[in-house]
Amino acid sequence: MTWIYYDSKTGNVERFVTRLKEHRNWNIQKIDDTLQLTNPGHLITYTTGIGDVPASTTRFLEANSALIHTVTSSGNKNWGANFALAATKISERFKLPVLMQFELSGTMTDLQRFIDQIEGNIYGN
Ligand SMILES: Cc1cc2nc3c(=O)[nH]c(=O)nc-3n(C[C@H](O)[C@H](O)[C@H](O)COP(=O)(O)O)c2cc1C
Repeated sequence: MTWIYYDSKTGNVERFVTRLKEHRNWNIQKIDDTLQLTNPGHLITYTTGIGDVPASTTRFLEANSALIHTVTSSGNKNWGANFALAATKISERFKLPVLMQFELSGTMTDLQRFIDQIEGNIYGN
């Protein structure tokens, strides 16, 4: 079974996972400070500050990164070189592969690519 964990502040990542739910019967769970994973899965978050990782995402990873296969970040290309940089920073700090960086709530192409990459099973379920 595939598990997706996500963080969202203004609703873009939430919209992405809502569409994901319409296409795949995966377990999709919003992270919070009490979540202690038992099922490994993939993380989707967003970028805040100036290319920063949300504090809520960092706390989640400090507790659970051992069970996370990949990281994906939403961002906004208006931020130039800082676009979706949360994924890059998480990748470096927690030694996780970046699955994707997409803009806002993602396009259908982004959604399909996300599904294909996970089902391609390069990084585990
Ligand atoms: C205060 C603030 C800072 C942001 N900084 C960045 C940034 O550095 N790089 C980037 O790509 N996007 C940045 N964004 C855009 C968000 O990452 C983007 O809107 C994302 O889709 C938000 O996801 P969410 O709606 O699920 O919270 C920023 C947004 C806000 C409100």
